[in-house]
Amino acid sequence: MVDAEIRDLREHIGEEVRIQGWLYNKRSSGKLLFLILRDGSGYLQAVVFRPAVADSVWQAAEALTQESSLRVVGKVKEDRRSPGGVELEVTAIETVALCPDYPISPKEHGIDFLLNNRHLWLRSRRQHAIMRVRNELLFGIREFFYQRNFVCIDSPILTPAACEGTSTLFETDYFGEKAYLSQSGQLYLEPAAAAHGKVYCFGPTFRAEKSKTRRHLMEFWMVEPEVAWMRFDALLDLAEEFVSTLVARVLDRCRQEFEWLERDTTALEPAASRPYPRIDYGDAVAKLQAKGFPTVFGDDFGGDEETALADESGKPVMITRYPAVIKAFYMEPDPADPSRALAVDMIAPQGYGEIIGGSERIGSYEKLEERIREHGLPRQAFEWYLDIRRYGGFPHSGFGMGIERVVSWLCGLSHLREAIPYPRMLNRLYP
Ligand code: 4AD
Ligand code: MG
Repeated sequence: MVDAEIRDLREHIGEEVRIQGWLYNKRSSGKLLFLILRDGSGYLQAVVFRPAVADSVWQAAEALTQESSLRVVGKVKEDRRSPGGVELEVTAIETVALCPDYPISPKEHGIDFLLNNRHLWLRSRRQHAIMRVRNELLFGIREFFYQRNFVCIDSPILTPAACEGTSTLFETDYFGEKAYLSQSGQLYLEPAAAAHGKVYCFGPTFRAEKSKTRRHLMEFWMVEPEVAWMRFDALLDLAEEFVSTLVARVLDRCRQEFEWLERDTTALEPAASRPYPRIDYGDAVAKLQAKGFPTVFGDDFGGDEETALADESGKPVMITRYPAVIKAFYMEPDPADPSRALAVDMIAPQGYGEIIGGSERIGSYEKLEERIREHGLPRQAFEWYLDIRRYGGFPHSGFGMGIERVVSWLCGLSHLREAIPYPRMLNRLYP
């Protein structure tokens, strides 16, 4: 008898195995008890046939409650109708811990209740599927960069200054000095691009956004590539190659998860291939006006505008060359029109909004110095960042992609809160 994981049971047909897991569900029919087991790797129907087992085994099976932990021994049988294509004929059951009154039952629960029980909710099939999609995406990202010779450079979380504007900074005490939780690793990545050429960082990011939308978290994960010598148009190509490669990968490897999520994957398929539409900011404004929005040139786009700008074809759209005044201080001006920045936002289809924000970076010392002054930023805190232009300045570009935004889009979620294991929101820091 061997210990086996549910995912591998097809390799054990005809053998006796032991499964360690939890009772997900149970139903009975006369002399038969059907136990649905889960062990993290999958779900399995285990059948207890009363005449075939000892009384003690039958009694143990009858006493099992939802989420009781247990070890089950049985023979693996091929069964085409079962999920995973196998079933277990139970011969022995060892109850490890009986579970009293599991709080999450198959009936409907309110979202607050579920979030308060996030530590348990993670066990549910839908949440399990979402975390699997997330895991596939995370690994796909690392592989994408590894295959293209990018070097992962981890950026710090505790920082002395803002990157993306002072209004969304989490402040903390650093031995009597003020420190802030990182809003983006970008500023720390640009120096690394001078050291390695192609780099990326990937970590948690913090924004004290007092907004309560389905697209915002206070703590989210961002992946940020930064490439020396890369100009704006090549950055657009990289963003497009990145997202389409990831979508294709997840579509290919998460079929089962998408089924559980009842996600219509035909809506995702167009995004698995290039190219993606590119729209100049000015044309985007015109498009919005034609749709009846009161938008004027110079406005930033909110969630509703992003939804309206999304492409009907199901491909993400790249909006380019925003007015410099509504974008970050480090963005390179468009040489054709310096009032515009070489900035891009990638908007996911189906109302999922901005998934990527990026730009070419200011390469010149004088220009950057001027921007720091214009934006009223504390010059001293940015001396080291100016050094990157002082000592061998170079053109470079990069972007940041929000993981939860992408997971939400891929999984068809209505809110970012399900796309991260433990969501941090305006009124939530528990569990
Ligand atoms: O557009 P953002 O603010 O760009 C930056 O931080 C740049 N420094 C990145 C870079 O160029 N290296 O954020 C990038 C992405 C957004 O497009 C969005 O997907 C996600 O991060 N994001 C959030 N996700 C969840 N909750 C929030 N509050 C988010 N804010 C941004
Ligand atoms: Mg942005």
